[in-house]
Amino acid sequence: TKAVTIPSLLQMRGAANKIAMLTCYDASFASLMDRCGVEVLLIGDSLGMVCNGHTSTLPVTIDEVAYHTAAVARGAKSAMVLADMPFGTYGTKEDALRNAVKLMQAGAHMVKIEGGEWVADTVRFLGERAVPVCAHIGLTPQFVHQLGGYKVQGKTTEGAEQLKRDALALQSAGASMVVLEAIPAGLGREVTELLSIPTIGIGAGPDCSGQVLVMHDLLGVFPGRKARFVKNFMDGQTSIEAAVSAYVAAVKDGSFPGPEHCF
Ligand code: KIV
Ligand code: NA
Repeated sequence: TKAVTIPSLLQMRGAANKIAMLTCYDASFASLMDRCGVEVLLIGDSLGMVCNGHTSTLPVTIDEVAYHTAAVARGAKSAMVLADMPFGTYGTKEDALRNAVKLMQAGAHMVKIEGGEWVADTVRFLGERAVPVCAHIGLTPQFVHQLGGYKVQGKTTEGAEQLKRDALALQSAGASMVVLEAIPAGLGREVTELLSIPTIGIGAGPDCSGQVLVMHDLLGVFPGRKARFVKNFMDGQTSIEAAVSAYVAAVKDGSFPGPEHCF
């Protein structure tokens, strides 16, 4: 299979060919997911919660993400390797570049940053220096204390309008992709129609250009509270490979997320 690239993801978006993304933290799962046709492997800062047992993503460091990124990059063959910039690592553009370089040198093809209009300058700065960026808006877990918990975003008219402004500003700044987390399904569709770059939803409805889940949620092994948008794909399956393949198939044919996973 051919390598997944920014142009090939853009082409998938144009052809309404859904993109399957999963979080991944090690080489063995990277190899398995790649085999199952997952296009993008995200080394999420969710690793602080699912691998290390923290109650938020805030304690995660750049070196931790770089360590897991290197492992995933060794296991991946065709999939794109996307690494999260952790809390506090992109406060200034210079900090962002220095930290993003660590992830790119560990094997990432793109980095992900949480935030709207206010990080657009950082997105542009990185892009101009050969670091592709995926933006992340809606429920941004690094903002948990400002948001007052893990809550659905963009429910008010003002919130929805701001989210659309954010998405457009990030695209204009050169973002290659946008993750939309925990927003009403209708808003997920509107933002997707507004943009020409791919949107990847997690609790953002079925009309995004693709979907992402945390692998521990997909496999039903995360002991924490189960979010509405989570589906345990191990149900009815007898192997992890079958569960991951079922996820990819459900994303591709549009059967995941169903109405029960949406806001
Ligand atoms: O860290 C993570 O796993 C993420 C996804 C939920 C999008 O950012
Ligand atoms: Na994240």
